[in-house]
Amino acid sequence: MPEQGGLLSKKRIIIEPSILSGDFGALAAESVRLECAGADALHIDIMDGHFVPNLTLGHQAVAAINRATKLFLDVHLMIYNPYDYIERFVASGADRITIHFEATEQVAETLQYIRRCGIQAGIAFCPETSWEMIPKYLSQADLILIMTVNPGFGGQPFMMEMVEKIEMTERLCRQIKNPPLIQVDGGIDDQTASLCCRAGANVLVSGNYLFKAKEMKEAIEVLRASCGLN
Ligand code: DX5
Ligand code: ZN
Repeated sequence: MPEQGGLLSKKRIIIEPSILSGDFGALAAESVRLECAGADALHIDIMDGHFVPNLTLGHQAVAAINRATKLFLDVHLMIYNPYDYIERFVASGADRITIHFEATEQVAETLQYIRRCGIQAGIAFCPETSWEMIPKYLSQADLILIMTVNPGFGGQPFMMEMVEKIEMTERLCRQIKNPPLIQVDGGIDDQTASLCCRAGANVLVSGNYLFKAKEMKEAIEVLRASCGLN
């Protein structure tokens, strides 16, 4: 498994392109392109058409991407009953699996199970979910994903109200020994990235902004620079 831990010192921002905005007919080539462009990890959105009104990829696509790249694979499950699918995504090469708080009644069990499989576990919170739900999971997860759009589609506008949620989460993280990473996902571009980093996010997922850029490498650098970190 590629070591993401080494990248995660306080000052380091992880840039994670979301392949949802890429060419699904060329997943392997897209993965190589992202690796060459300097991505730190690759974000793969899995949607079931129920938890969110959209369908995307399955575990076989993750396996294909895994064969094409050495990048850290961050799998974002927007599916009900994620527990039932963990084994398949682990076997396909996921390095971290993030489940949604809203998608299962077995949140703690599923997070534990993911960790027992030897990979990182993340938990995602939809914009409408109250911040109060987050603190309990800071010690149970390797990553807290604060959704900055309603999950389901790429290319949506960033929800400014989420900045406070990031700040409040970061404040709590500062008080614990091994804090989880704070990831943001949705509407991240050169403007919103800096807002999120300043608020305390350290993992930035970006789809449309990076894939629409003329030069992916440059766009990744612009994102890093906008966080004041290169
Ligand atoms: C949305 C997905 C995101 C999406 C982000 O439900 O979780 O990962 O790909 O795309 P942009 O950056 O275009 O909002
Ligand atoms: Zn995502």
